[in-house]
Amino acid sequence: MRTRPLKVALLGCGVVGSEVARIMTTHADDLTARIGAPVELAGVAVRRPSKVREGIDPALVTTDATALLKRGDIDVVIEVIGGIEPARTLITTAFENGASVVSANKALLAQDGAALHAAAEAHGLDLYYEAAVAGAIPLVRPMRESLAGDKINRVMGIVNGTTNFILDKMDSTGAGYQEALDEATALGYAEADPTADVEGYDAAAKAAILAGIAFHTRVRLDDVYREGMTEVSASDFASAKRMGCTIKLLAILERAADGESVTARVHPAMIPLTHPLASVREAYNAVFVEAEAAGRLMFYGPGAGGSPTASAVLGDLVAVCRNKLAEATGPGESAYTQLPVSAMGEVVTRYHISLDVADKPGVLAQVATTFAEHGVSIDTVRQTGKDGEASLVVVTHRAPDAALSGTVEALRKLDTVRGVASIMRVEGE
Ligand code: NDP
Ligand code: HSE
Repeated sequence: MRTRPLKVALLGCGVVGSEVARIMTTHADDLTARIGAPVELAGVAVRRPSKVREGIDPALVTTDATALLKRGDIDVVIEVIGGIEPARTLITTAFENGASVVSANKALLAQDGAALHAAAEAHGLDLYYEAAVAGAIPLVRPMRESLAGDKINRVMGIVNGTTNFILDKMDSTGAGYQEALDEATALGYAEADPTADVEGYDAAAKAAILAGIAFHTRVRLDDVYREGMTEVSASDFASAKRMGCTIKLLAILERAADGESVTARVHPAMIPLTHPLASVREAYNAVFVEAEAAGRLMFYGPGAGGSPTASAVLGDLVAVCRNKLAEATGPGESAYTQLPVSAMGEVVTRYHISLDVADKPGVLAQVATTFAEHGVSIDTVRQTGKDGEASLVVVTHRAPDAALSGTVEALRKLDTVRGVASIMRVEGE
């Protein structure tokens, strides 16, 4: 057992960082035994130094993160500040000064993962980020290492705790959107700017990271088709219930049947109540991974929150420290397949479309013809009429997204169609 401690710089001490520091302190003996050397918190960089931080020695707190990294004795940096800058520059500085990095920063990894991996490799150091996707759930390492000998063809899951919390509350208690978002924020689930959660950017960043790992290719945030959940309404939930479904914000990553391209998307979707993802409540996440040899795997657990996320950070800390002692590094980026990411128009799935139409003879036929003209086959139609107006709910068979967009565009031009109330994809069958 080495007695000289491995020195850790903690960048950020908010919801996640404070829990990382707490566990490092309370489990110090266990961590020492598991790593084979003591780990010492050598400094904590924050924005507001005067804030009282329970369990943190005030002498360790600094606002000068760069100086902390340049001290020359830091072995591992834990970055839990979030956002692009200064996190990106600080991680680069960490590598330049010989420290491996553990980060929970999905926004940065989705944007600059390739450059950061290259910097880690150039310096012979580790970049680990289990906490960046799906909170406490071991997912990055199993996909990167345990499934390294298999071929992943599809990943589908709930990867944002905040939006799952909101959708669950709206569905199960009838809570309003803002009320549920405020509760998720108070519980520490939401990003510093919750727009990242509700508009799907956070899930899209996680989707980009997972797609890169799953398909051994580079997928950036901009490659991921993204729709948030702010438009999901109580009437969408009522429609979903009538179909025996609920609504979840899903991330779906697929390898094309010919294996020559991939797709990556994040959007709300109806899923049957019988599907395992339908029972994922509150801020829990769940991810299905379909691999050629392994078959279907499901990963499930707390997707957000200080303590669960700190668990994933600490797991990475132990791995990175062990690598340091062994003078080795873990797996870096694997992007050898260089598969193109296809546009959303090529994705094939089912749709639930709700239309407000005139309630008169021939309207249904006109609507059905419009679907047929665009090659979209109808599965079911339900009409409810009142005072010369009707609500028409059409559920389609599987069709390319581009065909559905063309259908909707044409429907909007029909005099008898007063409006397209909602369009939602149907998944999970
Ligand atoms: P918080 O906003 O709670 O904490 C951010 C911390 O960073 C604060 O301690 C803040 O200091 C510090 N900070 C901000 N700017 C600077 C700066 N310029 N220099 C030094 N320190 C700075 O965020 P979270 O803990 O919630 O999230 C941190 C990261 O973890 C993000 O990347 C997030 O996406 C990710 N993550 C979060 C999860 C969660 O459930 N919250 C789950 C999974 C990942 P101060 O305290 O003084 O304000
Ligand atoms: N804001 C994120 C979420 C934190 O709600 O999932 C976990 O990554």
